[in-house]
Amino acid sequence: MTDLSTTAASAPSPEQGAANGSGASGSGRDSLTVTDNRTGETYELAITDGTIRAADLKQISADGVGLATYDPGFVNTASTRSAVTYIDGDAGILEYRGYPIEQLAEHSTFLEVAYLLLNGELPTQPELDSFVHDVTIHTFLHENVRQLMQGFRYDAHPMGMLMSSVSALSTFYPDANQISDPANRQRQITRLIAKMPTLGAWAFRHNQGKPYVYPDNRLSYVENFLAMLFKMSEPTYEADPRLVKALDVLLILHADHEQNCSTNAVRSVGSSQVDPYSAIAAGIGALYGPLHGGANESVLKMLRRIGTVDNIPGFIEGVKGGKEKLMGFGHRVYKNFDPRATIIKKACDDVFEVTGVNPLLKIAQELERIALEDEYFVKRKLYPNVDFYSGLIYEALQFPPEMFTVLFAIGRTPGWLAQWSELVQDKEQKIARPKQIYTGYRTRDFVAMGDR
Ligand SMILES: CC(C)(COP(=O)(O)OP(=O)(O)OC[C@H]1O[C@@H](n2cnc3c(N)ncnc32)[C@H](O)[C@@H]1OP(=O)(O)O)[C@@H](O)C(=O)NCCC(=O)NCCS
Repeated sequence: MTDLSTTAASAPSPEQGAANGSGASGSGRDSLTVTDNRTGETYELAITDGTIRAADLKQISADGVGLATYDPGFVNTASTRSAVTYIDGDAGILEYRGYPIEQLAEHSTFLEVAYLLLNGELPTQPELDSFVHDVTIHTFLHENVRQLMQGFRYDAHPMGMLMSSVSALSTFYPDANQISDPANRQRQITRLIAKMPTLGAWAFRHNQGKPYVYPDNRLSYVENFLAMLFKMSEPTYEADPRLVKALDVLLILHADHEQNCSTNAVRSVGSSQVDPYSAIAAGIGALYGPLHGGANESVLKMLRRIGTVDNIPGFIEGVKGGKEKLMGFGHRVYKNFDPRATIIKKACDDVFEVTGVNPLLKIAQELERIALEDEYFVKRKLYPNVDFYSGLIYEALQFPPEMFTVLFAIGRTPGWLAQWSELVQDKEQKIARPKQIYTGYRTRDFVAMGDR
């Protein structure tokens, strides 16, 4: 990386600026010249990869206080260098390790994509066989985890159960805190990818009051998950291959999404060098929120509340009036279309061919049609995101809305782990510790209880 190059000099006149070719005229230098109008000092800051280093701004000071940036929600701040996932929000591009999501959804499988995210390259057949084997033999959980999960209330939200049980796994594998040992890291990564479907399925069965089903390692990753969810007294649960494929595609679409809220949570907590179970539990907590992974659950609730197509205009007026949001619309990064939403729409057709059409689909389609023509949404670049249609598929697959985010979490686990693995090997990373702008009182004398 280019080293910081900051120099203080007196401010150039506009003529000087033009003469030395700085600013809009283009000097060919990878730097930014800024003038602090409080002091008249000029600084040249290095530009690397389209960014300046926030720490370089510290040099710019009046009254001895270094300049900082204020960026709630990190809307224009890069927190890391990453080689995992590329997104171009304007062009609607999503690539894992350089492979377009459309090609992966069509030709790959979830475990192959997991390998790609974690290792940077597509596996050879022997590499994939060995990875699938390792994941398959780690699907079982310690019996005490089962007991722990059974301790939850009958109506506990499965995301709360998933978050707690993933965090509990750190106590079953205390050596997981040896994060600088690559073999140890790999062991925990395999365990997490393998055990997430078991934990997710058990949380579901708990909610339904049904006995937990143990993994069947003769089945594929997705078939095994479906069996643990839906198996009753039949000796082997057989899922429709079209549904297995659709769920596998959905997991691929959710596998990573660069520095989103939950990945940032994983990285932030992971930056303290805690074990990966604790870091992933933090990611699950972030994903649980309705503005992130909880959105598809909210979409379904919203569609049910709207109830009929006739109620849509009134609902849209409410959204425009700021009463509520149109859930499943809008994205921090995608401002033209969400490429995952396009693939999901196609998966919808495949699933509904098997299960019959979900009656809420009509409301969703009409909502989308109206919103895409309405100036409010067009002006704000609000388009359907991945969550708008995924809930309809999940419902057709007989998942209750509370399970939608669990499916997202299972899909996102390889991405979280790839990002965590990158973090712990990145020499530039430090413990995450943002600054604040303090707005409270200063140095007040304590007031005795009787005097308040
Ligand atoms: C995803 C989301 C959090 C992105 O938020 P963001 O990048 O911070 O965008 P903002 O909240 O600044 O929104 C910009 C404008 O669009 C509006 N807007 C954003 N999403 C909207 C939605 N779903 N419905 C109605 N208005 C919305 C905001 O009110 C704001 O309007 P304003 O400029 O008049 O104040 C946001 O679009 C949202 O809440 N969507 C619904 C939840 C959802 O589907 N989440 C899943 C994401 S994959």
